[in-house]
Amino acid sequence: MAYQWDKSLETGYELVDNQHKQLVQAVNNMIEASEGGKGDQAVMQTLEFLTAYTIKHFGDEEKLQKKFNYPDYLVHRRIHEEFKITVGELTKRVISEGPSSELVNEVTLAIGSWLLNHIKGDDFRMAAFVKAAEARANT
Ligand SMILES: [Fe+2]
Repeated sequence: MAYQWDKSLETGYELVDNQHKQLVQAVNNMIEASEGGKGDQAVMQTLEFLTAYTIKHFGDEEKLQKKFNYPDYLVHRRIHEEFKITVGELTKRVISEGPSSELVNEVTLAIGSWLLNHIKGDDFRMAAFVKAAEARANT
């Protein structure tokens, strides 16, 4: 089942929202490659993209938080680090066990549900802070 993007996921910070949309799309691409029977190699490619883009996105968010001295920066970064480890472990399993539809379901559910929860909690708080700090800096 694909994930739906809707307004409830918008933090209102454009760069972050655009990257979140890409991430949700990347999860959906993996689901589609698996369900559409596009072959193991295609599924692996979607996972590679998802992993790389997750790392890039976390890095961009962390830069933003540092730039505005976000008080929860260290906590937020640790949450990212832990999730990168989780994604790495899931990737290793997919490589060693092969991308069966059961495993792809497990992986996309783990990544997709983590992502939506993280966006609605940690990222909403971060975006509200960054938006306010940016507005102050621009006045
Ligand atoms: Fe985040």
